Amino acid sequence: MIDSHCHINDSAFVNNAEEYINLGKCAGIAEFLVVGYDEKSSRIACEIAKKYHECFAAVGIHPSDVKRMKKSDLDSIEKMAQNKEVLAIGEIGLDYYWDKEKDVQEQQKEFFIKQIDLANKLNKPVSIHCRDAYEDCYQILKNHPVKKGGVMHCYGGSPEMAQLFIKLGFVLGFGGTLTFKNARRPREVLESIGPNDYVLETDAPYLAPDPYRGKQNHSKYLYLVRNKIAEVKGISVEEVDKQSTKNFNRVFR
Ligand code: NI
Repeated sequence: MIDSHCHINDSAFVNNAEEYINLGKCAGIAEFLVVGYDEKSSRIACEIAKKYHECFAAVGIHPSDVKRMKKSDLDSIEKMAQNKEVLAIGEIGLDYYWDKEKDVQEQQKEFFIKQIDLANKLNKPVSIHCRDAYEDCYQILKNHPVKKGGVMHCYGGSPEMAQLFIKLGFVLGFGGTLTFKNARRPREVLESIGPNDYVLETDAPYLAPDPYRGKQNHSKYLYLVRNKIAEVKGISVEEVDKQSTKNFNRVFR
């Protein structure tokens, strides 16, 4: 399995990165995409990816961090993104759940578009964080297409919007939320999409799957997401591993 979205760069793990990776490998994880959310976490993601051959990095400014960023941060992101270990620009996007003020939302859109432009300039895909902003996110991606496509990380939109993102060249990331008891939405989405449209993710340390919901997440729990996908789609776990790995490699390599 490939964990297409985890934060080994988070303070919870960064001092024990080697242990984290070994535990993950014992639980069937072959590769980890370590995703940045601001300048510092992106830099650490690159350092981890340089040091451990199982790890790769995504670099970018998360919408909720846009308020705190410095002007020079985007230049640093651009420099980092040229490293060969960097597979994508992310996580970038829109989050209207945490930011309800119009001016902050406008700022999020501005930096989202700037980072899409950067991805296109460097010919890389993107990892997108979107919460309570699917319509605006879709409009931006439609008007500013990402040449290499990318992943809608922890996709929480409708099955109808899922088809629109897929048409724009995106795959959908499924993680812990799929395993939650009340997770009707992600299950409906999963049922409605084809074998080429999904990748696996944990978002560790966040969003631990059942029965670890509310606890610290870890890539070693990714099998619980994989098992749930197999159950919902009525296919073997081996088929999920094969297909999700193929999808990851198509988008990110
Ligand atoms: Ni994340």
